[in-house]
Order: sequence, then C-alpha cells, then structure tokens
Amino acid sequence: MTADTDIALSGSGHLLQPAASSLADRTDALFLAMVILCGTVAIVLFLLVLFFSIRYRRGASVDRTPPRPMRFIEASWTLTPLAVFFGIFGWSARDYLTLWQPPRDALPVTVVAKQWMWKLQHRNGRREINELHVPQGEPVVLTMTSQDAIHSFFVPAFRLKQDAVPGRYTRLWFTATQVGEFRLFCSEFCGSEHSSMTGRIVVMPPAEFGRWLAAGNAQPGLAQYGFALFRQLGCSGCHDARSTIHAPLLEGLVGRTVHLQDGRSVVADATYLRDSILTPRKDVVAGFEPVMPSFAGQVSEEDLQALIAYIAAQGAKDGPP
Ligand code: CUA
Repeated sequence: MTADTDIALSGSGHLLQPAASSLADRTDALFLAMVILCGTVAIVLFLLVLFFSIRYRRGASVDRTPPRPMRFIEASWTLTPLAVFFGIFGWSARDYLTLWQPPRDALPVTVVAKQWMWKLQHRNGRREINELHVPQGEPVVLTMTSQDAIHSFFVPAFRLKQDAVPGRYTRLWFTATQVGEFRLFCSEFCGSEHSSMTGRIVVMPPAEFGRWLAAGNAQPGLAQYGFALFRQLGCSGCHDARSTIHAPLLEGLVGRTVHLQDGRSVVADATYLRDSILTPRKDVVAGFEPVMPSFAGQVSEEDLQALIAYIAAQGAKDGPP
C-alpha cells in the first residue's frame, strides 16, 4: 500500500494539489481570477511609474503645464475598479455561502480532534483514526469539535479548511469527485506534535464504500449508542412523555426554534443541544424550571455527539409518543 499511496498522495510535480472536490474548481477559478487581476494591475502601475519617471525626469524638455480636469478618465478609473471589486465580492460570497449549506442528504461523519490525532465516526458507528473513507460523488458533512486545543481540518486537494474548536461544533461539507487518497493536515499549531497530526482521505467508488462501511462494524450505530447513553445517564427519566417531571420533550426538536425563559429564541442545533447538556441553566426553555443538572465531566466528546445524533434521530418520529 505504501509505495503507490505515496505517489497518489504526493501530487508532486503540480503547483497545486489535484482539484478533487466539487468546490475545488470554483475556488481555483476565483483564485486564478484574483491573481490575474492583481497581477495585471501591479504590472500596469509599475510600467506607468517607469514610463513617467523617465519621461518627466529632471532636465527633460517636456510640456509641464498642469492638465485640464479630466472628469471622464477620473470617473472611469474610480468606477471600473469599484464594479470589478463588487463583482468579485458577489462571486466569492456565492461560493462562501455554499460552504455553509450542506445538502440535506449528506452523509454525516463526526470528528473529534485531540492532541494529536483525528478521531472520526460514521453514522453506523464505524470508527476511524487519522483516516476518512468517503464515497465518490456523494456529499459528506463533518461535524467537528476538539477535546483540547484548537485544531484545523485541512484537505488541500479539496481546497477546504475548517477549525475544530473546543466547546462548540463546526461543520464542513464536501463532495469528493476523484477516487484516490488525499492528504489531511492539521493546519493550526496545537502543540509539540502538531506537525505529525496528519492523515488521509480515502475516496472510494460508492458501491465499494458501502461494502467498506458495512464491514468490520462491531459497534452500535451512533444514534443507537446515544439512546443507550440517554437511558444510562437518566435523561429518559425526565424527557419522556410519561415522566412526572416537567421537562421539554425532544421529538422533532432539532432545527426548531426554541423560545427561552429570558425572551430570547434560538434554533436548536448541535451546539444548542451540547450547551443544554453541559450548561443547562444557560438556555432555559420558556415554561420550564431550571432543574436539569449539568452533565459536564460525565460525558466525553464522542458521547455528546452520540446523544445529539440520537436526539436528532427523534425528529423523524410523527404523531403522539
Ligand atoms: Cu492539531 Cu495542529
């Protein structure tokens, strides 16, 4: 594996890594346009400076009467760059917004970064360390956090980078377009072994990926494990329709707007659920008493992600419990 892996991974001989995700070509096009634009402006300015400093050097016999106002030229050299820069703003904003909108059917993978490794888990519970297997041509969404320092998930061939930050979730999604292996780096200095916090993304044809995912899976699925935790930690004692304790029900919670006691309202996303588990008094739901204990220190980052996966899976339920 190592010999051809090295060749596939290196991308040697290229100025850039191969463009291997659906966003990579768009990012490259934007980058190239910026380089051409800025390069052109720099070269034109340089030539003008050179030309004028020779032509109007001291002692040269040239016409030095002050010019008449040149409104048209002045307006055009102001408005043209303005239009160009607004155009670039619109172009890059469109691509940037795409980064924040993972497709609904994207394959979820949870990522926990720690000093100094990447721990990843697929929805069916299959775990990986410093390796991520994904299918070609299908969107994948990573939900990331860190259990210590700030790390950054960087895949040059995908033109993607996203910090993994302790205490909250960040998201990154991509569609890999080429079968092969691509380097994964940590691009945030995170301690003495930072430079060795590397890995690889293995892009497989979808059928092969399906077999890979199903094979060697001795773990319960993420949501299933979350359900076990939910009972084990006693969450079900209160968050159950039959409970005598008055606690918010969790069915269909994810994605909904929640009204809080202090008048704020928040959208129930992964970070909201995480905060509710670790610091339950921060966002008390309107109409409920702040009686929930904190579970900080009792649940690991992986446990939290499993609990959240379980609660998110409750969204699919219809009708009364
Ligand atoms: Cu993790 Cu650098």
